[in-house]
Amino acid sequence: MDNRPIGFFDSGLGGLTSIPYLRKHLPNEKVIYFGDTARTPYGSKSPKTITNFACQISDFLVEQDVKMIVIACNTISATCLDVLRERHPHIPIVGIIEPAATRTARICALDNVVGVIGTKATIRSHAYESLIHAHDAEIEVHELACPAFVPLIEEGIINSDIMDLTIHHYLDDFILENRVDTLILGCTHYPLVESHIRRMHPNLRIINPSEVVVDTVEEILKDRNAFADGSAAEIENCFYASDLSDNFVAMIDRIFEGQAEKVAFKNLDV
Ligand code: DGL
Repeated sequence: MDNRPIGFFDSGLGGLTSIPYLRKHLPNEKVIYFGDTARTPYGSKSPKTITNFACQISDFLVEQDVKMIVIACNTISATCLDVLRERHPHIPIVGIIEPAATRTARICALDNVVGVIGTKATIRSHAYESLIHAHDAEIEVHELACPAFVPLIEEGIINSDIMDLTIHHYLDDFILENRVDTLILGCTHYPLVESHIRRMHPNLRIINPSEVVVDTVEEILKDRNAFADGSAAEIENCFYASDLSDNFVAMIDRIFEGQAEKVAFKNLDV
């Protein structure tokens, strides 16, 4: 049993999309979340910059005495998962890509066609394609960077014609021309527009890594006998942001359905 919180982090608010699944499946677990809202988006930054930022945030989470870290960001997972694991060898660090790639390889047959959408950095890394092919080299995978989604979502432009047009712009030809039937939302911001994508492409099977990663968290806690037992009621969920934007606070409220949550400001030195 281990009642310490789990550390989650993302370049901004996208990583929050994992938290409802964590709460549903592992309701005793507490969370310390860090969103780097001052420096988002990461997806168009260089690997060196992304790695530097991710090292700062993981150091901060380790200082908070978390029992494990979930990189709730595809861009960071694709860029520097190994660096972070080497930096903090005594704490389990889970990237968000591998669990979803493994799940996809397991459920896809040879006549399925997988599409992966993500940031420029994630797509440039080919992390999903490589990991899917490590399980089954025959699965057809197509990848597409969709850099306009993150700034729109961070701005709260979600239920709007602009978002619908952006989805049409990126996905219509990509899905049709490649015959994609299974789509991986390879950026943790994208589940916030999943219902829009479903409405426009109702026959797609959608894989949401923000959800799949929670199964891996559960496996690791089980292996280490490190589940929280719910007795540490004094430990609160904590949501930090490097810039406490209105959108970040509103998103916390939306995701947690208005329940009071502790929102704290943490300023990281750049
Ligand atoms: N949410 C992040 C991801 O999963 C990226 C957003 C960004 O570009 O900062 O890739």
